[in-house]
Amino acid sequence: MNDIQAQIMEANNFRHATKVFDSEAKISESEFNTILETARLSPSSFGMEPWQLLVIQSTEKRELFREFAWGANGATNGTAGQLGTASHFCIFLAHTGATMAHHSDYQQKHMKEVKQLPDEVIGFINDAFQKFQEHDFHIEGDRQIVDWSARQAYIALGNMMTVAALMGIDSCPIEGFEMGKTIAVLEERFGIDPKLYKPAVMGAFGYRADGPVFPKTRRKMEAVVSWV
Ligand SMILES: Cc1cc2nc3c(=O)[nH]c(=O)nc-3n(C[C@H](O)[C@H](O)[C@H](O)COP(=O)(O)O)c2cc1C
Repeated sequence: MNDIQAQIMEANNFRHATKVFDSEAKISESEFNTILETARLSPSSFGMEPWQLLVIQSTEKRELFREFAWGANGATNGTAGQLGTASHFCIFLAHTGATMAHHSDYQQKHMKEVKQLPDEVIGFINDAFQKFQEHDFHIEGDRQIVDWSARQAYIALGNMMTVAALMGIDSCPIEGFEMGKTIAVLEERFGIDPKLYKPAVMGAFGYRADGPVFPKTRRKMEAVVSWV
């Protein structure tokens, strides 16, 4: 195993779903920027980048989620949870059909201004994306478009957590929240229009307060991977 492989394996084993962070230990601006750049540079289907990221640093704003974010509120271990202790707390928002249905204005602007594609290539991608949504993957309604967008967000979050671990930074992915109440708080308190964006997943980053509660367990390689 070469040095890079050893570092990657060390990071993989170091990373665990951190339940409680050391609330005094803050991630440096430079290191958190590296984590954010990792998200921004992550791949996405058709390169559409169908997600936004909220970084919620104010204690008061984080508390708005406490009652119903059961996967981050420490209720199971009698602590302030990830919401109360993480150095940085993020919510990924998935784009809805308003921007991610084929031929949308957002996509035309994105392909022209961000990807700087010539018109003929944009025309080709529009047609391919329509076929992908309607024929190949049957992404037929707003809910399915949100799910598709969320899948792209999860790739970014996964990359963020791995890169964080390589820097000795802990993290936790969080799906433990009530969707309806989260949508309502995001709309009423953050001005996020649910017609445009729906919450996908949360992510907490910081430095662990204690070691992992549970040892890392996984299925064996041969139970997971088939060489065919
Ligand atoms: C999509 C996703 C959602 C998760 N949601 C939560 C959560 O709400 N709260 C929590 O403490 N852990 C959460 N986890 C962490 C998992 O329980 C954890 O990754 C799994 O048990 C394996 O443990 P390890 O990551 O420590 O190796 C989530 C993990 C994933 C991938």
